[in-house]
Amino acid sequence: MATNNTDDTTDRIEALIDRLTLEEKIDLVHGDDDPDELATGYLPGIERLDVPSLSMVDGPLGVRPGTATAFPASIALAAAWDDDLAHEQGEALGRETLGADQDALLAPGFNIVRVPQGGRTFEYYSEDPYLASRLAVGTVEGVQDAGAIATAKHFVANNQEQDRHEVSAEVSERALREVYLPAFEAAVTEGDVGSVMAAYNRINGTYATEHEWLLSDVLKDEWGFDGYVVSDWWATSDGVAAANAGLDIDMPGIPVSQWHAEESLLHDVIERLPDTLPKQSIAKLASTPWLPENVNPNLFDRSPFEVELPEAVRRGQVAESDLDEKIRRVLGQMERFGLFDDEQPSGAFGAGEHRDVATRVAERGAVLLRNEGNVLPLSPETDSIAVIGPNADSAKVGGGGSSRVTPDSTVSPLEGIRERVGGDTRVAFARGTEPIDDTEGVAGVNFDLSEFAPGGSSSGDGAPGVGDAVVAARQADVAVVFVQDDAAEGTDRSLWLPGEQDRLVAAVADVADRTVVVCNTAGAIRMPWADDVDAVVEMWYPGQEDGHATAAVLFGDSDPSGRLPVTFGRRLDDYPASTEDRYPGVGLEAEYDEGVFVGYRHFDAEGIEPQFAFGHGLSYTDFAYSDVAVDHDGEPDATVEVTVENVGERPGRDVVQVYLGPADAPLERPPKALAAFETVALDAGEAVTVTLDLDSRAFAYYDVEAGEWTAADGEYTVLVGRSSRDIVAERTVIVEESTIVE
Ligand code: BGC
Repeated sequence: MATNNTDDTTDRIEALIDRLTLEEKIDLVHGDDDPDELATGYLPGIERLDVPSLSMVDGPLGVRPGTATAFPASIALAAAWDDDLAHEQGEALGRETLGADQDALLAPGFNIVRVPQGGRTFEYYSEDPYLASRLAVGTVEGVQDAGAIATAKHFVANNQEQDRHEVSAEVSERALREVYLPAFEAAVTEGDVGSVMAAYNRINGTYATEHEWLLSDVLKDEWGFDGYVVSDWWATSDGVAAANAGLDIDMPGIPVSQWHAEESLLHDVIERLPDTLPKQSIAKLASTPWLPENVNPNLFDRSPFEVELPEAVRRGQVAESDLDEKIRRVLGQMERFGLFDDEQPSGAFGAGEHRDVATRVAERGAVLLRNEGNVLPLSPETDSIAVIGPNADSAKVGGGGSSRVTPDSTVSPLEGIRERVGGDTRVAFARGTEPIDDTEGVAGVNFDLSEFAPGGSSSGDGAPGVGDAVVAARQADVAVVFVQDDAAEGTDRSLWLPGEQDRLVAAVADVADRTVVVCNTAGAIRMPWADDVDAVVEMWYPGQEDGHATAAVLFGDSDPSGRLPVTFGRRLDDYPASTEDRYPGVGLEAEYDEGVFVGYRHFDAEGIEPQFAFGHGLSYTDFAYSDVAVDHDGEPDATVEVTVENVGERPGRDVVQVYLGPADAPLERPPKALAAFETVALDAGEAVTVTLDLDSRAFAYYDVEAGEWTAADGEYTVLVGRSSRDIVAERTVIVEESTIVE
């Protein structure tokens, strides 16, 4: 049974709990209609007792209702490898949340990028638990410092969109502890996050919303989480099991037809159906041929907490004291964030309030993957530039699904480049192929409704062909080709670029003097043309300021200081989860039997050469490392010092990365794992000495039998480098005694 007492409950909350009726108590633990139709999830509060409402809103790339600042995708933020920047973006997100009259932000999301095809990789940070942890803490603290409640999602092992409502991650405790849980743990123990969202999927056969070991034993008891656990939307099917396991709030509590009516694409679909079809009951649509089988079955129901708990409490199936504990957690956070006394800061929202932050993050997340012959940066005095690409005249704001933000203005790459160059530069534009449509993706609904969307799907103007692009490329000094994918929540993606884009790049590269490819993708992609082009820049989904940030990077106003937070393999088989058993799984079970060998840990262990390694990213200047020293006293921790000098001719930014290779242990460990990093900005000729701390967890593995983190004794290798495959210095340290660490 979930009986965890929180520390920061107050007399007021205890007094309220005493006065609440059973019905009122249940109303405080499930969502209902938001009269303003703004919130993604809404608890109405209890008027009789002056308990205010609680409004939760999506999401990680910006807030959802109305127009808001559209920030770069989370993976772009992650690529900057900078927890201070994460704090800054988090703070802006928190201010927008409050500015939109909402209390809790349904972000950040930081599931580990286990399969590169994941449809939501753009919403997450990394394949590496340490990097994900640092960014999770930075973002959570930023959101909460601004005065909004942050929500760490999706707890846990929600690593694919395919079958997400049913699939069971068959995963060992060791892999959970070492790979999938650390960022959540850090968000709780360091970030003091107010809320955690329980995922859709099952973990070892049990739904995340009903997983007592995860929700109560690990999250609440072990880590001391004292906020509330909210379900993902319509994730709960068994209210009693979920209540007893430790779920505190069931969301959204209402059937999809009632939810977010204004915004829901599904709602539009219902409205557009012929009169002869029932409009009010989405449930009836289930019998129509176009509704596929994999729709979340809970979409059509009211909250299982509302429906099941009254009787369950009366019968003693759910202890009333457990219900009180949920309320203590919910009201505790509402009190902590000033909801009771109207003490919330005011925030700021919309009209690009945080445009500068959005631009800066997009620039900082840019990863220069390749730059043969220093073709980049471009000179603004270049005579002629051919801007090519099916969508180069629109900003890549984000991906589809619940993280979609509507900005009030956008800057396309074409506009950004035109604005940046002087009047003497000729900028030609050719699409080269049909535009790639954004996939909408509807939260909770696993299928593409675009053909039913208002206006239908666009086919662009005319019928652009590769021929136009080839002509433009031939006539220009440099061709910049913009390619993009169309990732969306609810479906996984192909690693191949959609449409004819690969053919387009190859054709341009064939004829252009110099070819630069800018990728706007959700994560790793296949790049069959990588060796044939001069430069490749990964800009991810840069948000509303796309064109400004992209131009700043291309013309060298900003050094592309991003580093890959995920490995780019050469082919699908290179990645660890490339068998059907592992992904997407067989019989709705995905075997995580690669264990802790996720991402670069697998590439290293198997000796596979990636296309672009984890941590890789070039700069427009050069850096030299010297005086690498390790301070160590036989305990499982160490301090590394390294002097970094900008030996090039331009200002730039570098990310010093420290990996740790383990001592022999009674179990197999990855050859190395990221243990510390530091981002430094240096003028030409400037040098700085960076100090990086390796904590005891970096040395340890999780000993499942003992239930402890253990650092084996023996020799560890400290690897200092510029990527996981570009190690410039190695030192050894010896841990004298096998040690149990915190
Ligand atoms: C997503 C969540 C989101 C929720 C509410 C779900 O489909 O998985 O990330 O917060 O919808 O929109």
